[in-house]
Amino acid sequence: MPKPKDNKSSQCPPKHVAIIMDGNGRWAKERGKARIQGHRQGARQIEEVIRAARDEGVKYLTLYAFSSENWNRPKAEVDALMSLLASAIKKNAPYFVKNRIRFNTIGYISALPSKCVESIKNLVETTKEYDSGVLTLALNYGSRDEITRAIKKLLIKAKDSEISPEQITWNSLEQMLDTAGMPDPDLLIRTSGEMRLSNYLMLQSAYSELYFTKTYWPDFGRDEFHKAVMEYKCRERRYGLTADQLKK
Ligand code: FPP
Repeated sequence: MPKPKDNKSSQCPPKHVAIIMDGNGRWAKERGKARIQGHRQGARQIEEVIRAARDEGVKYLTLYAFSSENWNRPKAEVDALMSLLASAIKKNAPYFVKNRIRFNTIGYISALPSKCVESIKNLVETTKEYDSGVLTLALNYGSRDEITRAIKKLLIKAKDSEISPEQITWNSLEQMLDTAGMPDPDLLIRTSGEMRLSNYLMLQSAYSELYFTKTYWPDFGRDEFHKAVMEYKCRERRYGLTADQLKK
């Protein structure tokens, strides 16, 4: 594992880690199990990674749990994922309360089954004042959908004369995204060996450090998370500047 560079800022833990949890199906297939078994093990890993992130000093953790394209999977798999979501929220609610972690979602959640929407809304409401960490689940989320919704909101504001086209900046668009108020991800992890963003936080990850691992999500635990954070600490983030400018 590489050692962190002698650059103070790069030794800070990432404030915000976003994860594309991929490989549940392949994990199950390689073990001769049904895909849902992979998702079940994946849900257990979420619990381990939430705890690991807390221990590493990561304040924001954002997990891609169900994309806007995942509705096209076989109905039985979609239904099983929704049941898993409902039971994972129920099971983990006491942990969020005990550890004062704010629970949040991004994505168009109204399209989820009502039992999920209700438990999500309850947990968001119960934890809204908590400040020791923020766990965000991306549910029925896709960047293209998020950006389209954000532009619609801006156009409505323009129509109501609350903003003029000249006043529109990146900052005004950012305020309309589902992630408004959250810092951009410092580190974006994708498991399972695939190397693409799959419509996840496309605008927010403009300057994120990307980390790809071949490990399937159901095997991605505390040690793997630590390895990703160590790798992040070795990166030099330049934001368009030269390395010499950064040294000054
Ligand atoms: C990708 O693996 C994973 C998902 C589509 C969903 C992520 C879900 C979990 C981690 C389980 C917990 C679920 C909720 C909703 C809390 P894949 O099925 O695409 O794997 P594959 O590429 O190997 O087929």
